Amino acid sequence: MKTWMMMAILSLGASALAERSTINFNEDWRFARFGAMPDGSERAEPEGLESASLDDSQWRSLNVPHDWGIEGPFRDDLPNRTGKLPWAGIGWYRKTVDAPVSDAGKKIFIDFDGAMSDSKVWLNGEYVGEWPYGYSSFRLDLSNHWKPGEKNTIAVRLDNKPESSRWYPGGGIYRNVRLVKTEPVHVDHWGIFVTTPDVSKKEATISIKTEVAGADDHTIILQEIVEAGVQGEGAHLQIKVANPKLWSLESPTLYTLKTTVKQNGIVVDVVETSFGIRTIEYTSEGFFLNGKKVRMNGVCQHHDLGPLGSAINTRAIERQIEILQEMGVNAIRTAHNPPAPELLDLCDRMGILVQVEAFDCWEKSKAPNDYARHFPEWHEKDLRAMIKRDRNHASVVMWSTGNETREMKKKEDAPVSQMLTDIAKSEDSTRPITYGCNAPNAGWNGFQKTTDLFGYNYKPHLYQKFRNVNPMQPFYGSETASTVSSRGEYFFPVSDEKHLGQGGDFQVSSYDLTAPPWANNPDIEFAAQDKYPWVFGEFVWTGFDYIGEPTPYNQDKTNLLNFSDPAERKRMEEELERLGGNIPPRSSYFGIVDLCGFKKDRFYIYQARWRPELPMAHILPHWNWPERIGEVTPVHVYTSGDEAELFLNGKSLGRKRKGEFEYRLRWDDVVYEPGEVKVVAYKDGKIWAEDLQKTTGNSAKLELVADRSEIAADGQDLSFITVRVVDAEGLVVPRSHNSVQFKIEGPGEIIAVGNGDPTSHESFHALERRVFNGLALVVVRSVKGESGSVVVKADSDGLAAGEIEIEVK
Ligand code: GAL
Repeated sequence: MKTWMMMAILSLGASALAERSTINFNEDWRFARFGAMPDGSERAEPEGLESASLDDSQWRSLNVPHDWGIEGPFRDDLPNRTGKLPWAGIGWYRKTVDAPVSDAGKKIFIDFDGAMSDSKVWLNGEYVGEWPYGYSSFRLDLSNHWKPGEKNTIAVRLDNKPESSRWYPGGGIYRNVRLVKTEPVHVDHWGIFVTTPDVSKKEATISIKTEVAGADDHTIILQEIVEAGVQGEGAHLQIKVANPKLWSLESPTLYTLKTTVKQNGIVVDVVETSFGIRTIEYTSEGFFLNGKKVRMNGVCQHHDLGPLGSAINTRAIERQIEILQEMGVNAIRTAHNPPAPELLDLCDRMGILVQVEAFDCWEKSKAPNDYARHFPEWHEKDLRAMIKRDRNHASVVMWSTGNETREMKKKEDAPVSQMLTDIAKSEDSTRPITYGCNAPNAGWNGFQKTTDLFGYNYKPHLYQKFRNVNPMQPFYGSETASTVSSRGEYFFPVSDEKHLGQGGDFQVSSYDLTAPPWANNPDIEFAAQDKYPWVFGEFVWTGFDYIGEPTPYNQDKTNLLNFSDPAERKRMEEELERLGGNIPPRSSYFGIVDLCGFKKDRFYIYQARWRPELPMAHILPHWNWPERIGEVTPVHVYTSGDEAELFLNGKSLGRKRKGEFEYRLRWDDVVYEPGEVKVVAYKDGKIWAEDLQKTTGNSAKLELVADRSEIAADGQDLSFITVRVVDAEGLVVPRSHNSVQFKIEGPGEIIAVGNGDPTSHESFHALERRVFNGLALVVVRSVKGESGSVVVKADSDGLAAGEIEIEVK
């Protein structure tokens, strides 16, 4: 009987489609929290939560990606630097599925794109593996304990230690999960490596290496480049593509490699890999993509998605990139950890260069419970995982082994860096290795020689000195600016002194002149980039605001690590001391764009520089200052033109021209009177662009504007709705802070609200929100499989209501 059953199963397996199946494993998990609870209490973690027989029916039911921290509440007693949100603690996820009988004889894997953090995984009560680093993607082999024809229960335990990060890490299974079923002979995990060693207009050589698990003499590997219709056979081979369409920023063409594995003549596995054909080269003169010099106009980005937290959503990342591209961004540094794979897919498709970074610390910690705990045992596995996962992305143009690690200042620190470089190169020799360096002397003490590309964080004054010592080494600003501002806040008198903590209510003025002591305003970095054309670009800290690290109101003592100058360090220490206690800020002020994706003024100084062909001008501040009549109220203008004339209520306040190394036009002695301030910008003597700011009337109504009025009924797609408080004429009232209530009807749900105020403790999960300086955000998600019209209504006391309709298809 037993033998017969086995045979039946085997023959079923062989006659059924023998290719791999990749199953989305995101839905219907059960979830419970233990240890530190969101309300500050402690809940004991019982034994045996991994047991197959545990009754978890009372646990909360949810889908992943899920971030348990973003649900809040914001708590005064929690640290500012990690967002004042309850992400620390223990979380268990359990999911039970029926396995078909046809699983017999198959390999069963579970793939996590990321689980925050210290994950441990069981199947049917049996321990199957772990992966501590919350930013790594990993695969576990479930085959030994998988029960075909029965129920199978997967249990995942995550444990977020407090003080394990310098920013908000989030918590939970916050990226996608898949179940992968293959035949015993199959393409190994991340087993394909496509490179393009020779590329010309006429022909490209595509080199393909494939690792197949379980392969023997009867295994055949076939490769096909689908769009080009060319094929080959073998585990290591080269295929030629005639007249290749190159991957470039303007036209990011992608090709598909179809890998087919046959065993004894039967197809057992088919895998598709997307790749691009392009060349990259770094010289002492710059970066070259397909032979063309490209200056990297980059931003650093943390991984959270503002009010959505760290739970990844492809549309939310795509929206971020769209906004960044509108500004002229062509490069992203994934500070300071491996990103969600969807980010790289989007960058491939949208034409963005990426620096993928591995670590924020090595052996020496920056926070008591950070990755330094795991570095000795895990650095190699994590670094290899990062590179193997991401090495086929055309967008990825360099690997970073770390950021401002504490090993850097001394000569003796170089070997750790060299060891990581060697590991990275052993996985991928086609891309250079870099590192974000903030110790001046690491540019000449030997440390610099451990990486191919050298990047300074915040050291424009040292670029030439570095060059004098290392004339041939490609060089860039790995982290720049760190200017701070709150959208729509302006403080007077305006001062060029980049002091900390100015202004009331824990906001920072948006004249874009304020930066912490180690940092600069954008203009200073621009000047260095222009003075030294061999600098291949910059990565501004940061593109978007992120949760945590609300410098200059950060209680984060690790801020002090950023100081090389003892006097500056002492000044910062005193400032933090002075600010002590429970201060409200919980998200950054560094973003060029705020936490909701609303542009701050700074957006336009970058756009003016990075998109010189786009006619644009931007005036700041807004022009609603009833208390400043007769007072000096400086007006600054960002423009891609070279000259501009300012008018106040029709009267010219003079025409100004940008000087050498000048990036903003300033009328610092304007005396405020209500009305209209208008700029006319010129380029080469011709009118180029205009902008104006008008004193508005009182708040009259709510206006709702969606980024997309049609979304897919896939339960994932999002519409980002901007809520504006406007006057009778439709002008946004810049200092309005009205509280707004929302209602939704139809097949959609409001999954988050926000307003970009870094000090607000209002929940992101609510049906109401105060606008911050005129704006708030509502994020609507479709319901899977349900189409129709979604109507969002907004109400606020004393204002005419607003409404918008979104089609879900
Ligand atoms: C850098 C650091 C970043 C962030 C930034 C703030 O030194 O690399 O992670 O902390 O400072 O200015």
